[in-house]
Amino acid sequence: MLILAIETSCDDTCVAVVDGSRILANTISSQTAHAHFGGVVPEVAARHHLDLAVPVVEAALAEAGVSLDDVEAIAVTTGPGLIGALLVGVSTAKAIAAPRRLPLIPVNHLQGHVAANFLDPDPLQPPFLCLVASGGHTLLGAVRDRFGHEVLGQTLDDAAGEAFDKVARLLGLGYPGGPALERLAAEGDPEAFELPVAMSREPGLNFSFSGLKTALVYLCRDLGPDGVQERRADLAASFQAAAVGQLVAKLRRALKKGDWEAVALGGGVAANGSLREAVAALCRQQGLRLKLVAPELCTDNAAMIASAARFAPHLPYPDYLSYDAFATGEAPVVA
Ligand SMILES: Nc1ncnc2c1ncn2[C@@H]1O[C@H](COP(=O)(O)OP(=O)(O)OP(=O)(O)O)[C@@H](O)[C@H]1O
Ligand SMILES: [Mg+2]
Repeated sequence: MLILAIETSCDDTCVAVVDGSRILANTISSQTAHAHFGGVVPEVAARHHLDLAVPVVEAALAEAGVSLDDVEAIAVTTGPGLIGALLVGVSTAKAIAAPRRLPLIPVNHLQGHVAANFLDPDPLQPPFLCLVASGGHTLLGAVRDRFGHEVLGQTLDDAAGEAFDKVARLLGLGYPGGPALERLAAEGDPEAFELPVAMSREPGLNFSFSGLKTALVYLCRDLGPDGVQERRADLAASFQAAAVGQLVAKLRRALKKGDWEAVALGGGVAANGSLREAVAALCRQQGLRLKLVAPELCTDNAAMIASAARFAPHLPYPDYLSYDAFATGEAPVVA
């Protein structure tokens, strides 16, 4: 089935055309306006989505070499995310689907991150354990089928990506900070500073990143501006080692508690080379299959939304006209 998918939950305007597990186009227009503010400004994001939605749909169709007449269903992220940004995507999806009487497929953004693993090349079949680490979430998901995932543990405060972004900002690296911090960390010593690997004594599968971020704030205060400048790479490397250390420790613990044969990653932090290497080493050690998708399928994209949509309920016209976006939690039940 040829699906056109729209993803506008944060600051990237994303449209994809996917046929089964095959990606025909995966177009992403990243908004640069937010760099000026050091983070995403929700109102600015929504306004940019309005400008970009139609041109990005046209670009994706052209890249895929298809027209709207070929499209059989429209998928869209309905939440969680920034409500104004989501509403632009949902309205665009309805406006394309309704006149053509096409079905609409609402998709949960986090299931999208999991479903990136169902795409070519080499789609992963459940069951598998999936670590999702992104800008707004960090969770361990038990993926037993392609329809959803059970949350086994999640962050109690900041998300891993949020911590990368905040520490990057502290080190003067700009926004988004994750990739820049990884590049700087490559030049530093991960053992230069001893930082807390949070939740290591807590027996559950939850995460916490706010203490690590605060430890960095105090460390930078003690070093002073010149000291921070001099030790930037060591600070980045030590932070990255502590953050990756916690993610891998919890993954190891979850593997011990279950009978898993395969592991997958999802979310923007899954693009981090140090995390990918550490998880690969763990899987080698335990004889487990590891699925790593390309970095551009880790950060927000619409191909992953189309992938989740293949296994989600299709709403026929006109049932979806009153369907709404949601900022947090689960999709509201529509009467
Ligand atoms: N190479 C990298 N190393 C570490 N972090 C990274 C890397 N690349 C991206 N990130 C982080 O990933 C996050 C973006 O991921 P993603 O697009 O999945 O988040 P989001 O959609 O904003 O949040 P959510 O999916 O929870 O709604 C940012 O916090 C970014 O800094
Ligand atoms: Mg995301």
